[in-house]
Amino acid sequence: MKIRVPATTANLGPGFDSFGLALTMYLELEVLEETKEWEIEHELDNIPRDETNLIIKTATHVCPNLSPHHLKMTTDIPTARGLGSSSSAIVAGIELANQLGHLNLSKEKIVEIATEVEGHPDNVAPAILGGFVVANKIEEHIYYTQHNFPECELIIAIPNYELLTSASRQVLPERLTYEYAVEASSIANVALSSLLSGNLEQACFLMEQDKWHEPFRAALVPELKRIREEKNQLGFYTALLSGAGPTILILCPKESLVKTKNFIKEKFKTFDIQHVRVQSTGVEIV
Ligand code: HSE
Repeated sequence: MKIRVPATTANLGPGFDSFGLALTMYLELEVLEETKEWEIEHELDNIPRDETNLIIKTATHVCPNLSPHHLKMTTDIPTARGLGSSSSAIVAGIELANQLGHLNLSKEKIVEIATEVEGHPDNVAPAILGGFVVANKIEEHIYYTQHNFPECELIIAIPNYELLTSASRQVLPERLTYEYAVEASSIANVALSSLLSGNLEQACFLMEQDKWHEPFRAALVPELKRIREEKNQLGFYTALLSGAGPTILILCPKESLVKTKNFIKEKFKTFDIQHVRVQSTGVEIV
């Protein structure tokens, strides 16, 4: 059995901790034979291979009496880059418990457990459900809606440096004024209504006006400003911080895809540039 979980890009500008989009990059977890102790085979540095691995920890948290198995993980989701790598591990762990423990968990229950482990739903919810998901958590309940995302090309530009979500959250202010919050929330509301009504250009303009997180994180990812300055020249719709960064998500029409990719390749030689699509199904058994 193989569990496949998509990468995700969270926030999309003003949807801080609540907007998320599943992308066509994957973590795959193959479940092999039963063993005495849990073990997980993979090719990454600094990721545990025993029961302290996040996938196994999550699976045994969900179902403590699972029999240990030999697992094999492969992933194209880089760690600490703002593409939901920890969420993909959490979702893989819950699905592992679901399958091995025959728990028959609903997607709704998986979203609830994954949000409890991750703390916020914006990466885990689209990784479970696929597509564009808007979600929040009030006490123990997760409220969410799932949508189609407007037709456009998606480029992700992945820097060769890591940025831990914890470090990227530390630069956020503890308090904002009422006036500031009202303005930030109005931007988010109209950005979302524009996305849902298919007005992509207006949505992208508003997404770039985010006041919840990007202004505070700008200094951590200086390349974002540099890329945005080329927007009119290259003809893309917008460039946004993917999750907590440092990856930059670019939305563009077909005509500007090659020009934009080439510009980033040329100016930021160490970046990994990928053309991805929206993944519409979320976690799957393949
Ligand atoms: N919404 C989260 C953040 C996503 O921006 O900190 C990263 O996990």
